[in-house]
Amino acid sequence: MLELRAVSAFYGAAQVLWDVSLEVRRGEIVALIGSNGSGKSSVLKAVAGLLPGVTGHIRHQGRELRALPAHERAGLGIGFVLERRRLFPAMTVRENLLMGAYRVASAQAVRETLERVEALLPLVAAKRREPAGRLSGGEQQLVAIARGLMCRPSLLLLDEPFLGLSPRAVEEVAALLGHLHREGLTLLFNEQDAALCFSLAQRGYLLKAGRVVFEGHGPAALQEPAMREFLGEAVP
Ligand SMILES: Nc1ncnc2c1ncn2[C@@H]1O[C@H](COP(=O)(O)OP(=O)(O)OP(=O)(O)O)[C@@H](O)[C@H]1O
Ligand SMILES: [Mg+2]
Repeated sequence: MLELRAVSAFYGAAQVLWDVSLEVRRGEIVALIGSNGSGKSSVLKAVAGLLPGVTGHIRHQGRELRALPAHERAGLGIGFVLERRRLFPAMTVRENLLMGAYRVASAQAVRETLERVEALLPLVAAKRREPAGRLSGGEQQLVAIARGLMCRPSLLLLDEPFLGLSPRAVEEVAALLGHLHREGLTLLFNEQDAALCFSLAQRGYLLKAGRVVFEGHGPAALQEPAMREFLGEAVP
């Protein structure tokens, strides 16, 4: 579904990704793990087309994405749920969802997608008339994911979907991602909590200072030396 080969990325003259290679197969949930500044968001932005300075190959279903602008990548079915939710706080929940459908061709298709997304997320449906900024952090994350689903993605990228959430909200978001995965959506998400990553994702890549230093499968990966070192680093 998605393949990165030797991807490097730059903000101006500053290089932030070095030779990143990874893949996400159709139907997988894959996690990008790493501490602050390790390059997790940069990988997702490179895939979504939000980073100008990228070299190497980024292929989606065999097609090279690098020359395509972000909106065309969204049109190919790559949805992106931005970090810290980035909702429009003064707009209603429903209006926020509709902002996610700007690439969907017909009003009929938008209505159908809205019905499907609201049926999947009863809370989002119930709060549809409220300003998004008035919702709790967990509720806002559900709205952000709902908005990401409005472009009818086959691959959904999520930047730290659990950031700042209560344990209960973490469970709700994890349950939602698990449900979307069972429905056939392919997911790639970022997260600093390695245990949470491997409880949800089948595979995970560990990033350190802009490089992939480890790839692991399932909870057993937490016992591998690279992960143990990372967990040790993360403990103050
Ligand atoms: N707009 C920017 N301009 C310049 N440098 C940036 C910019 N955004 C990020 N960086 C740098 O790129 C590197 C990787 O950042 P990135 O946001 O990808 O990390 P991250 O793993 O997502 O971190 P976090 O966990 O804090 O979200 C960092 O050194 C960061 O300082
Ligand atoms: Mg980030």
